[in-house]
Amino acid sequence: MESEWDPLRALGAVTAVCLLLWAAWGVGCTVYVYLLPQVRRGAPWLRAHGAWAVVTGATSGIGRAYAHELARRGLNIVLISRNLSKLKLEAEEIERLHGRVTRVIQADFTGGLEIYEAIETGLKDLEIGVLVNNVGMLYTKKPSKLLDCENVAKRLSDLINCNIMSVAQMTAIVLPQMVSRSKGIIINVSSILGKKPNPLFSAYSASKAFVRSFSQAVGAEYFAEGVLVQTVNPCLVESNMTAGTKYQMAVMNSEDYARQALDTLGLTSQTSGCLSHAVQSFLLAVFQPNWFSLSRWGIKLSYLLLKPSN
Ligand SMILES: NC(=O)c1ccc[n+]([C@@H]2O[C@H](COP(=O)([O-])OP(=O)(O)OC[C@H]3O[C@@H](n4cnc5c(N)ncnc54)[C@H](OP(=O)(O)O)[C@@H]3O)[C@@H](O)[C@H]2O)c1
Ligand SMILES: *[C@@H]1O[C@H](CO)[C@@H](O)[C@H](O)[C@H]1NC(C)=O
Ligand SMILES: *[C@@H]1O[C@H](CO)[C@@H](O)[C@H](O)[C@H]1NC(C)=O
Ligand SMILES: *[C@@H]1O[C@H](CO)[C@@H](O)[C@H](O)[C@H]1NC(C)=O
Repeated sequence: MESEWDPLRALGAVTAVCLLLWAAWGVGCTVYVYLLPQVRRGAPWLRAHGAWAVVTGATSGIGRAYAHELARRGLNIVLISRNLSKLKLEAEEIERLHGRVTRVIQADFTGGLEIYEAIETGLKDLEIGVLVNNVGMLYTKKPSKLLDCENVAKRLSDLINCNIMSVAQMTAIVLPQMVSRSKGIIINVSSILGKKPNPLFSAYSASKAFVRSFSQAVGAEYFAEGVLVQTVNPCLVESNMTAGTKYQMAVMNSEDYARQALDTLGLTSQTSGCLSHAVQSFLLAVFQPNWFSLSRWGIKLSYLLLKPSN
């Protein structure tokens, strides 16, 4: 008579099994993507997509690290950013260290449609296998409410052009030849801040959400035509953007970051880039749910946590 069917108990058992399966799936995916060297695609696979890689914002931080790592894996590199002397210096460094050919294109991505003609011309005759949409900016160094930064109109226009327009336009320039060869990889650098709305970084975090959403949709559109799209969501990586942060111990070396993030190519279309950032991202989602981070107390806590230390 103890074995009488109890609907509540059955419901509990089903829920427990579902939770266990969900957790096992998460752990399994994490191990597969970050911890199993055997499943990695390797440099020959990367080179088979085309001889050249294009990196926007390539002279410092994450973009610079991607450029070096892609060259080390045997691709020629096109570097794009604002400062010509920095570009030339970095290009020479890549040629010297990795023995690849480079090309530089000077462009300021805070500009509008007018800057892309020169970029298109600069890329015309190249077989581009990999595009890294990396360039991006914050609109203030300090976390602040929208109206608390100077010259809001100009800053918003710069941010939207640099973080959103650049990604869409660069993709539109490079995609046709990838589709015609049925081969190509597009990497969009988003951010952990793009995973949900973030008060005190509102426009930045929304611009990164665009990157993620756009990447996923375009990735689905062109998957059947051989183009692979990956969105990378870093937490803190060593760069000028994070130079002032008080959480220096959480900041990852940019070369290690780019190497590990490139190792996940072909294994997943969404990645935190490395195991430690995947763990941080998971913890943040659990302990910073929207109902809290968007509440009055959540914003107070953010101010406290993100306030510069000096
Ligand atoms: N660092 C992090 O912890 C972190 C975390 C999450 C996401 N991200 C994202 O990762 C990407 C790279 O960030 P980062 O920290 O490596 O940046 P960074 O160190 O500030 O480097 C920015 C790069 O972009 C170029 N650049 C900046 N503004 C430009 C513009 N208007 N036009 C053309 N080039 C420009 C810079 O060169 P010039 O000065 O010569 O133009 C430089 O090469 C960004 O999209 C950022 O949002 C970074
Ligand atoms: C370009 O970078 C160099 C070296 O970092 C710097 O000295 C120079 O002022 C920069 N030029 C511009 C126009 O920002
Ligand atoms: C990311 O990748 C997709 C796929 O090609 C591309 O269309 C998009 O412009 C890129 N950038 C963003 C922000 O998604
Ligand atoms: C920060 O910018 C300076 C000047 O542009 C550059 O020389 C330096 O390498 C950058 N730092 C990082 C960590 O990328």
